[in-house]
Amino acid sequence: MNKTRVARVLGEGRADEEITVRGWIRTRRDSKNGFSFVELNDGSCLANLQVVIDSAVPDYQQTIKDLTTGASVAIDGKLQESPGKGQRIELHASSLKLLGTADPDVYPLQKKRHSFEFLREIAHLRPRTNTFGAIARVRNVLSAAIHNFFQSRGFVYVQTPIITTNDCEGAGELFQVTTLDLARLAQLKTEVDFSQDFFAKRASLTVSGQLEAEVFATSLGDCYTFGPTFRAENSNTTRHLAEFWMIEPEMPFCDLDDNMDLAEEFIKSIITDVLHRCADDMEFFNKRIEKTVLETLKNIIEHDFVRLSYTDAVDILAKSGEKFEFSVEWGLDLQSEHERFLTEQHFRQPVVLYDYPSTIKPFYMRLNDDEKTVRAMDVLVPRVGEIIGGSQREERVDVLVKRLKACNLDPDEYWWYLDLRRYGSVPHSGFGLGLERLVQLITGMTNIRDCIAFPRTPRNAEF
Ligand code: 4AD
Ligand code: MG
Repeated sequence: MNKTRVARVLGEGRADEEITVRGWIRTRRDSKNGFSFVELNDGSCLANLQVVIDSAVPDYQQTIKDLTTGASVAIDGKLQESPGKGQRIELHASSLKLLGTADPDVYPLQKKRHSFEFLREIAHLRPRTNTFGAIARVRNVLSAAIHNFFQSRGFVYVQTPIITTNDCEGAGELFQVTTLDLARLAQLKTEVDFSQDFFAKRASLTVSGQLEAEVFATSLGDCYTFGPTFRAENSNTTRHLAEFWMIEPEMPFCDLDDNMDLAEEFIKSIITDVLHRCADDMEFFNKRIEKTVLETLKNIIEHDFVRLSYTDAVDILAKSGEKFEFSVEWGLDLQSEHERFLTEQHFRQPVVLYDYPSTIKPFYMRLNDDEKTVRAMDVLVPRVGEIIGGSQREERVDVLVKRLKACNLDPDEYWWYLDLRRYGSVPHSGFGLGLERLVQLITGMTNIRDCIAFPRTPRNAEF
């Protein structure tokens, strides 16, 4: 089938070129002079192709009334320079084929503004809107840019398991994976015997591929993972998903400063790529979704990120005179309102916070000499807050065992992870970037549920 995509037609199509396009009708307007105008979209770009259909085109009379919003068509014709405003080129149809109707009385996407809440209820149709088409294209380009960034620097892409038997973040927010018959177990009212389960031990969906990435970093060198991760945190916020995609680079012979350098370079590089490759979609977000988004992204690219210790950040927050809902005190975790104050109001640019209290961070982070803080880093950005979490890893086996115990984790369960410290241990570091939070930052969308095709959140997995 000879198929021309609208993006190519609008970009490089020339007058007199004969083409066939296929796609979905956005709007139709019938003129009194015996022809109709159709706006056709095929998802290849934001813009529609204007098609002029003369009533002399075969089947015009019986077909044209069915060319309603959402209907699918195949149209052959010849390109001509457009006399009208708003487009360089238009298609003059010579033949027209209706592929699928979309009854205007029931098709949910009519030509008006729909709320994002409503569109979430029709997640199977929302990619046909301007906003969700643009988000999908940006997400696609971002994914390619992420691979390019690491591949061009010699990082090895490793696929880490989705089913695991350890809790990397130690936060207990796990989705259990089991083949045990829960209904029967509930009747028996006995202790669950996990040795009878599929993996003969308690298993769950992974919260992070980091521990396995460390295995490869300490054998192959720089590597990264890019895959789905799962967290059963019952938080109904605009920044949390139960299923999200994370990019996790892991580097041997790398300390926290090197780690921060890479994170900053990484964010700047992929934003630059998206601005170049998705110029039209980005223009759209800036006009229709968030008026400051291009300015914010340019500001991120052009300036050094602020680097600040957790202790100094707490100081700034405490002295700010700002009324926060959650209190600020050394030893407490920072809340989104604190992160956003630092990055949006105080510094007005991305901030990398480091050296957090050990008590609020996972077991694997390297303990500082003060024995109170760990070599953690969080990258905070405007409107989103934390977008990256990472650290230098604890490479000393005795210290790591102590930390596991302090976190109420059984060192025996982490025997293979400890082996990496027993045999040829090296200083190493890494971080995790949440893809959907990055899409939020780049598109200006306020709710993370709109930054992934089919969001999973508490009580919601319809599609
Ligand atoms: O800070 P987190 O929990 O770090 C880790 O998982 C480390 N193992 C990463 C590493 O060092 N390799 O998560 C990293 C990032 C967060 O900064 C955030 O962008 C995203 O993952 N994230 C979420 N995104 C959406 N929904 C959630 N529930 C998220 N939890 C974390
Ligand atoms: Mg974190």
